[in-house]
Amino acid sequence: MKILVAGGAGYIGSHTVRALVKAGHTPVVLDNLSHGHRGAVPEGVLFKQANIEDSDVSAWMRQEGIEGMMHFAASIEVGESMKNPALYYKNNVVGSYHLIEAARQAGVKYVVFSSTAAVYGEPDQVPIDEDAKQVPTNVYGRTKLMIETMLKDYSDIYGMKYIALRYFNASGADASGEIGEDHHPETHLIPLVLQAAAGKRKSITIFGTDYPTPDGTCVRDYIHVTDLADAHVLAMNYLANGGQSQYFNLGSGKGFSVKEIVEAAKKVTGIDFSVEYGTRRAGDPGTLVASSDKIKRILGWNPTHSTVEQVIGDAWKWHQTHPQGYND
Ligand code: UFG
Repeated sequence: MKILVAGGAGYIGSHTVRALVKAGHTPVVLDNLSHGHRGAVPEGVLFKQANIEDSDVSAWMRQEGIEGMMHFAASIEVGESMKNPALYYKNNVVGSYHLIEAARQAGVKYVVFSSTAAVYGEPDQVPIDEDAKQVPTNVYGRTKLMIETMLKDYSDIYGMKYIALRYFNASGADASGEIGEDHHPETHLIPLVLQAAAGKRKSITIFGTDYPTPDGTCVRDYIHVTDLADAHVLAMNYLANGGQSQYFNLGSGKGFSVKEIVEAAKKVTGIDFSVEYGTRRAGDPGTLVASSDKIKRILGWNPTHSTVEQVIGDAWKWHQTHPQGYND
């Protein structure tokens, strides 16, 4: 199937493009390169540098004969969303409206959407399943939930089928070491820890040691980006085979504290870097761990790369082979 990958030059998008090629699909990438990297898109994959809201996108989709769309293009930083909500409403909500409407007008039948655990906010219990209440505690999560609502209405009324995938903590890198995580600025724990191991920052600061968790630091569910990418392919195939619109969590089902991640990184890299202890980061829930039983049951998805050792090991390989990231 010919599949448009909006945001296909970004971290999760670029890994999914590879998974699509491997599965025999033909991905076509749309990315404005505001955060994505041209070098993350494999040679031989059609690439269009444009914004998701550009007025010619629909005609281009029709011309290319796009049948399915994967939508990764978004602003993704929780902290930034709380300082500059206008940017998030514009890029995420307005941008997605234009893209989804362009797809509808171009006759695209299936959409797989990049959603987030942030739609749940502070959970009442963990692991979190899809029936948990959805009360996001930040603007980023609210924008993603609004887009899910938009997709549901497009599905119910126009018959455009969708799956929203709610990722927990995306991490790791392709085992080849050729593509990986390269955000500017970097705010995620594992790449920051590895920068400390590589001597690119003098230490890592642990944000908060007084959470109600076993060691007082936040617990998260780290899911390997290759497992995420595989889920997108399964989701698209499911829709193309007549599957119903719905949403799924994607996590490993296991929680690791910030301290445990730091210790695991020291072990994997063999480097003893310096650790500082700071105060809580605003808006961080104490524990987020997924139940992914629903996607396992319905799509047969199974994460096979998401041990902490593999997540950190693959990310470390990328860091070592690309100390400056994509250098673009
Ligand atoms: N952390 C530190 N020090 C750092 C960076 C992070 O202690 O320098 C801690 C955070 O406080 C948090 C954990 O490491 O407890 C993980 O933080 P990340 O920033 O890597 O990831 P988040 O859990 O904050 O965010 C992830 C996704 C978001 C998504 C969110 C859902 O990256 O896109 O989960 O809650 F919105």
